[in-house]
Amino acid sequence: MEEQSIQMNLCSTRKEKPDSDQLEFGKIFTDHMFIMDYSDEKGWHDARITPYEPLRLDPSAMIFHYGQSVFEGLKAYLTSEGKVQLFRPEKNMQRLNRSNNRLCIPPIDEEFALQAIKQLVAVEKDWIPRAEGTSLYIRPFIISTEPYLGVAPSSHYQFIVILSPVGAYYKEGINPVKIAVENQYVRAVLGGTGEAKTGGNYASSLKAQEMVADQGFAQVLWLDGVEKKYIEEVGSMNVFFKINGEVVTPALNGSILEGVTRNSVIKLLKHWNVPIVERKISMEELAKANKDGTLEEAFGAGTAAVISPIGQLTWNDEDFVINHGKTGKIAKRLYDTLTGIQYGKESDPFDWIVEV
Ligand code: COI
Repeated sequence: MEEQSIQMNLCSTRKEKPDSDQLEFGKIFTDHMFIMDYSDEKGWHDARITPYEPLRLDPSAMIFHYGQSVFEGLKAYLTSEGKVQLFRPEKNMQRLNRSNNRLCIPPIDEEFALQAIKQLVAVEKDWIPRAEGTSLYIRPFIISTEPYLGVAPSSHYQFIVILSPVGAYYKEGINPVKIAVENQYVRAVLGGTGEAKTGGNYASSLKAQEMVADQGFAQVLWLDGVEKKYIEEVGSMNVFFKINGEVVTPALNGSILEGVTRNSVIKLLKHWNVPIVERKISMEELAKANKDGTLEEAFGAGTAAVISPIGQLTWNDEDFVINHGKTGKIAKRLYDTLTGIQYGKESDPFDWIVEV
C-alpha cells in the first residue's frame, strides 16, 4: 500500500455522551468513524476520519448478497491517570488479515490500520466511559462494495472502524451465565470459515441461540461439526474448564476462533504455574467429570465477554451446576488480572498494553 495520511473531517457539533453507569453492549456510537476505500486499480486509498453517519451503498453491493465481510473487536480503556490503553491490538490486526485471506479480501497494512484506530480513539477520547468495567469497544470491519451479482471476490471494499462505549456483554455482568450445549445445529466445520471472524459464522449461530434464549441461556456451546462430540467454543467467547486441578481448553483445530483473550489466559496460567492443556475435550468426558465431582470450574474468555464464569451447562436434559453456580477462583483471578492490566491498575509483565 502507498504511504498515505489520514484526512480529518470533524463534526461541528457533538452528541450527548451516555451515563457510563447505564451502558449496555454495542447500542451507542461515537461522533466519528474511520473509512478507507479499496479498488483493484488503486489498492487501499482515501483514508479518512469523518462524522459517524449511514453508509451510501448500491443495493447490488456484494456484501448484501454473498456476505463477503470480516470484522474485529478490541477495546480502549481509560486508566485512573487519564491514559488511554489498547490491549494487544496488533493481534487483532494480524487476525483481521488472516480472516481477509480466508474471505479473499485484500490484506490491509496492519501498522497503518493500528495507526488509524489510535487516531480515531484519540479524537473520541471523551467518549471512553469511566464506570467500573466499562470501555470503548472498537469494531473494525471490511465489506465488499462492488455492485455485481456474480459470485466472485469483489473488486471494491471499504475498511471502516466504529466505536461504541460499552458495559458488560452479558446482562449477568461478571456473574455466572447459563449455557446450553447445542446438539442439532453446528457453527463450523473443518475447512469452513470457523477460524475467520466473518459475519456468516454469527448469522448461522442465531437459530440455536434463539431456541434457548427464553429458557434463560445466555448462549449455546458449539460442538464439532462432524461428530457433535467435541467441545469447540461459545461463539462470543472461547471456553475453559478446570478438571481435577488442571485447566483445559479445546485445541485450535481450524474451526475455532483464535481468541486474543484465549491466548492471554493461556499465557497468564503458564506464568502462574497453573497446569493448562490445549486438547480435544468431549462432552462425555465433561459429563463424567461433572458426575465424579472433578469438574471444578468453567468459564468463557473473549474481548467483549472478558472472563465470563459458566455457572450452569445443560446437555440434553442434564444440568451441570458448576462450582455451585458461583464464580470460581481461577476465573476471578484471571478477570482481576486481565482487567487490572487493561485499566493500568496492575503491572504488564508481557508488554501487552499499547498506549494511544
Ligand atoms: C468480541 O469479543 O469482540 C467479539 O467479537 C464477540 C462479538 C461477537 C461480540
